[in-house]
Amino acid sequence: MKTAASILSILIVSLFLGCVKNAIEPVEPTPTNTNTIADENITYNKTIKPIIDQNCGGCHHPQTLNILPYLTNYEEVKFEAENGTLVSTIFDANPRLMPPSNPLLNKEKELITKWINLNYPK
Ligand code: HEC
Repeated sequence: MKTAASILSILIVSLFLGCVKNAIEPVEPTPTNTNTIADENITYNKTIKPIIDQNCGGCHHPQTLNILPYLTNYEEVKFEAENGTLVSTIFDANPRLMPPSNPLLNKEKELITKWINLNYPK
C-alpha cells in the first residue's frame, strides 16, 4: 500500500514536471506572425507572398473571384507596390480599403512597407 502510494506520488510529480516543462518551452514564431524578422530575411517568397495569398488571393486571382489587379506572383505584386496602389489601399483606404472587410494586421503592413523600402527582394 505504501509502495503504491509512493509510485502514485512519483507519477503525479513527474506528470506535473512534464507540464511545467511544456509550459515554459519557447514557441517558435511563424514567419508572417512576428515583428522581429531581420531585414535580410524579408523576401517576396518567404514573407510577402503568404500575406498576399492569404488576404488578397481569394479575390485578386484569375481562378478565384477574378478581380483585377491580379496579385499572384512577384511581378504583379511589385507592380502594384511600385505604382503606390498596394500601400494606398492597405493603409489609407485610397481609393478603397483592401482587403475590403478585414484590414491587414499592423505587423503585416509593416512587413510590406519594409519589403518595399528594401527594394522588393525576391
Ligand atoms: C473580398 C475580395 C477582395 C479581397 C480579399 C481583396 N480585394 Fe482588392 N479589390 C476587390 C475589388 C472588388 C476591387 C475592385 C473595386 C472596383 O474596381 O470598384 C479591388 C481593387 C483593388 C485594387 C485596385 C484599386 C484601384 O481601384 O486602383 C487594389 C490595388 C487591390 N484591390 C489590392 C488588394 C490587396 C493588396 C488585397 C489584400 C491585402 C486585396 N485587394 C484584397 C476585392 C478584394
